Amino acid sequence: MRLVVVGSQWGDEGKGKVTDFLGQKADVVVRSQGGNNAGHTIMIGNEKFALQTIPSGIFNPHIKNVLANGMVINPKEALKELNNLKARGIKDFQLYISNRAHVIMPYHILLDGGYESLKGDHKIGTTKKGIGPCYADKVNRIGIRIGDLIDKESFKEVLANTLPIKNMELKMLGLEPLDFDQIYNEYIAYGQELAPYVCDTSYLLNEEIANDANILFEGAQGSMLCLDHGSYPYVTSSSPTAASVPVNAGIAPKYIDHCVGICKAYTTRVGEGPFPTELKNDLGNLIREKGHEYGTVTHRPRRVGYLDLVVVNYAKRISGIDSLALMLFDVLTGIDELKICVGYKLGDKEINTIPATLREYAKCEPIYISLKPWHEDIADIREYNKLPQACKDYIETIEKYTGISVDIISVGPERTETIIRKDVFKK
Ligand code: GDP
Ligand code: IMO
Ligand code: MG
Repeated sequence: MRLVVVGSQWGDEGKGKVTDFLGQKADVVVRSQGGNNAGHTIMIGNEKFALQTIPSGIFNPHIKNVLANGMVINPKEALKELNNLKARGIKDFQLYISNRAHVIMPYHILLDGGYESLKGDHKIGTTKKGIGPCYADKVNRIGIRIGDLIDKESFKEVLANTLPIKNMELKMLGLEPLDFDQIYNEYIAYGQELAPYVCDTSYLLNEEIANDANILFEGAQGSMLCLDHGSYPYVTSSSPTAASVPVNAGIAPKYIDHCVGICKAYTTRVGEGPFPTELKNDLGNLIREKGHEYGTVTHRPRRVGYLDLVVVNYAKRISGIDSLALMLFDVLTGIDELKICVGYKLGDKEINTIPATLREYAKCEPIYISLKPWHEDIADIREYNKLPQACKDYIETIEKYTGISVDIISVGPERTETIIRKDVFKK
C-alpha cells in the first residue's frame, strides 16, 4: 500500500509523530518536498528527536528512507543531522538521496535573509533556510543538483555558471559576494560524504512498488503553505499536497492509495499571513503554553487559534484526504470556551472556501459553533469508547462538517499515546 501523510493546516500538525507511528508498518518512508524548513518531532519513550531533512523512518533499521527529487537539501545541515543521530545511537539506518534533488547553497540562505529584510513590513517570516531562493533557482534552471555535487567536474562547471549570477544578486542586496574556491572546496567535501547514499530514487521507488512494498510519503509543511493553493504569498516554495507526491518522487499518480490528513485539534501558524481564527488573547496564550507551541526549527512562538474546518475542507479538496489524524487533542482538556469554525462571513455572504486574494481573506470572519468542554485527563485513553462524551462530540462535529472519518486520535506526543479507530496502513 502507498500512503501519503499531508498537513491539513499551516504545518506542525504532528506529521512526524504519525509518520513514526504508522511507519512501524512501512518498508519505505519518503520525504518528497521541502527541506530543513520542516521540523518533525518524534518522541520514543522519553527521547525526543527533531528531524528536519531526514525522514521519520530513520529509527527503524528495516526501513528504506528516501529523500526524493522534489526536495531541497542543505548538505551541511543534512550531514549534521545524521551525525547527531549517530551520536544518539541511531547508527543502523538505510538512507537514499535523489541525484535530482536540489542543493541549498550558502548564497540561498543569504538571499533568503536579504529578501526578507528588503520586504520590511511585508516579510513572509520564512525559516531563513534558503528554501525559496533554492526553488527559485530550480525553476530558473540555474540550480545545482545532488548529482552535480558528488561529481567534481560537474560541480565545478555548474557552480562556475551559477555563482556570478548569485553574486550579482548578493551585491544588489548590499551583501558580500562569495568566493568560488572556498565554496567549491567546502561543498565538494560534503558531496563526497553524501555520495554513498545518492542514487536514482525514482527507480528505487518504482522497484519497491513492483515488489508491493508498504510506502509512506511523509509530507512536510501544510496545505495552506502550498505554493499554488495556500495563503499566497505567505506560503512556502513547494507544494505539500498529495498531488505533488508523484512528480516530486518520480512515481505515477495511480500508485497513491490513501491520504491521511494530519490535523491539530486547534490551529497554529508560524510566520506572517492571514489567520481568521487566531486568538490574540489569554486563551491563545493558554493553548500555546499547554501545547508547547514554539517552532521546532526557529523556536518562534506559534500563533494559535480555534480549529478552522474551512481550512481542513480546503485541504481535503486539494489532496483528496481519506482519513484524518486528530492531533494534540489532550491540549484542549480543560479549555472551557471551545469553538470550531465551520464557515466564513465575507461581507454579507457566507463562504466555505479560501478566497484567493489576501485582501479578501483578511476580511473573512469565522462562523463558530460552540462545543462542550471536558475536564477529564484523556492522555491514558487508548479506546475511542472510553473518551468522555464531550470529546466524542468534538470529533463527530469534525466528521460531520468535513465528511472525513477521524481514524487516528493523538492524546500525547509519545508514540503509544494514540487511539486507533481504523487501520489505515495495511500491507
Ligand atoms: P510536524 O511538523 O507536523 O511533524 O509537527 P511538529 O513536530 O513541528 O509539532 C508538533 C508538536 O506536537 C511536537 O512538539 C510533538 O511532539 C507534539 N505532539 C504531537 N502529537 C501530540 C499530542 O497528541 N499531544 C501533545 N500534547 N503533543 C503532541
Ligand atoms: P513542518 O514540516 C510550519 C512556514 C514559515 C513561513 C513560510 C515560508 O514542520 O510542518 P520557508 O522557510 O518555507 O520559505 O517559509 O512557511 N513554514 C512552516 N511552518 N511548519 C513547517 O514545516 C514549515 N515550513 C515552512 O514559517 O511562514
Ligand atoms: Mg514542524
